[in-house]
Amino acid sequence: MIQVHDLHRHFGGFRAVDGASVTIETGSITGLIGPNGAGKSTLFNVIAGVLKPTSGRVVMDGEDITGLAPHQLFHKGLLRTFQLAHEFSSMTVRENLMMVPGAQTGETLVNAWLKRGRIREEERALRKKADEVLEFLTISHVADEKAGNLSGGQKKLLELGRTMMVDAKIVFLDEVGAGVNRTLLGTIGDAIVRLNKERGYTFCVIEHDMDFIGRLCDPVIVMAAGKVLAQGSASSIMQNEAVIEAYLGTGLKNKVAAEEAVERVTGESHGAQPGLGDEAGAFDGEKG
Ligand SMILES: Nc1ncnc2c1ncn2[C@@H]1O[C@H](COP(=O)(O)OP(=O)(O)OP(=O)(O)O)[C@@H](O)[C@H]1O
Ligand SMILES: [Mg+2]
Repeated sequence: MIQVHDLHRHFGGFRAVDGASVTIETGSITGLIGPNGAGKSTLFNVIAGVLKPTSGRVVMDGEDITGLAPHQLFHKGLLRTFQLAHEFSSMTVRENLMMVPGAQTGETLVNAWLKRGRIREEERALRKKADEVLEFLTISHVADEKAGNLSGGQKKLLELGRTMMVDAKIVFLDEVGAGVNRTLLGTIGDAIVRLNKERGYTFCVIEHDMDFIGRLCDPVIVMAAGKVLAQGSASSIMQNEAVIEAYLGTGLKNKVAAEEAVERVTGESHGAQPGLGDEAGAFDGEKG
């Protein structure tokens, strides 16, 4: 379980995260949503050790992990996926998986010289593990493809695959769906659910696609202007007035009012409903 207590991260005088407290239960797929600039990625980065908090605490299974470096958290099984580094794009998909730090022990030159036999054996084991990961993610057919040639969605699956090469316990995914087509987004969603159910992964997922969040996540945490606005099931969140307000500001109300006015004049219905409709799907919500 991850507990975040009254977390602040300020940039100069700007409060990107302004006193957020959240709990990510072990075994959950927790969603984190909110308008652009709400502080979601900043919160992720503080939890994952990429940014130091201005104040507040992060506790993992009772242990204070506030301010630990990403590699220290990595060894505790807390991983945040990043876009594939540029230098990895010319390596094959399988090689990318085999390169995951912590998945192998024989990386130093002295080790390599002293323990050649063991390393060959280890490499075989790594290769086997990488192939299992690719099979699990249903992308075995691109094992020998250069990672740089993968589609956006396949790259996301590869990022997820990298977490499977080590014993990840909790994985933070920032906008897995960005630039990914529907079909692959479905595959990514399936992989997340299976990793959760079959391998006990805990996930915390930032995503703007509400269908994706609704299908996968329980609970869903909503942030706006650096604060936690609401937490609950996806359906309860979508009916929450404050949440709708945070996303749409007065935009939706104005739209509804305008359409009602048009309706009065023309007698035609445009069917606008207050709720998280198309406007929310695009999530161009105003800050705070
Ligand atoms: N390094 C930084 N320096 C200054 N301001 C920053 C920095 N990082 C983030 N911010 C600001 O903090 C606020 C929150 O940013 P953050 O990236 O956490 O939002 P977000 O919720 O992830 O938004 P999005 O949905 O657009 O990704 C934004 O106004 C952003 O401009
Ligand atoms: Mg972000």
